[in-house]
Amino acid sequence: MFFFLQAYAPLGRMKVVADNPVVTSIAESLGRTPAQIVLRWGIQQGQSVLPKTTNESRLKENIDLFGWSIPDELCDKFSKIEQVKRIRNESLVDSQSIYKTIDELWDGEI
Ligand SMILES: NC(=O)c1ccc[n+]([C@@H]2O[C@H](COP(=O)([O-])OP(=O)(O)OC[C@H]3O[C@@H](n4cnc5c(N)ncnc54)[C@H](OP(=O)(O)O)[C@@H]3O)[C@@H](O)[C@H]2O)c1
Repeated sequence: MFFFLQAYAPLGRMKVVADNPVVTSIAESLGRTPAQIVLRWGIQQGQSVLPKTTNESRLKENIDLFGWSIPDELCDKFSKIEQVKRIRNESLVDSQSIYKTIDELWDGEI
């Protein structure tokens, strides 16, 4: 049996991605855009990425992910970016819910 990881919002909806200095510096050094770096990194991690755009030139950019790669040392740099849970689903936490605290909801992983 095979399992494939699918990125939930592979560009982080571009809010964080575009401002992250590690991402922008890798993009600059490889002559790519921050979106391409993030998508290509996902592919190199074995994930499938399904970005959304309503813009034709960004669509072309998001498809142009093959025939080049992020070198291992830059991938390592990317992988060390501090991870944060951006979507915490706090609305599921309530004194009447089975999850009384945010720690309970996330099994202490927050
Ligand atoms: N995340 C969810 O909650 C969720 C749930 C169900 C289904 N989905 C589906 O999963 C897909 C991706 O999810 P998502 O839209 O949440 O997140 P996303 O793909 O991470 O981010 C989309 C955002 O990034 C921008 N963008 C796309 N390509 C770009 C580029 N090359 N440069 C700069 N900005 C770029 C888009 O703006 P422009 O359109 O203006 O380019 C849009 O604002 C969508 O098809 C969505 O319908 C998501």
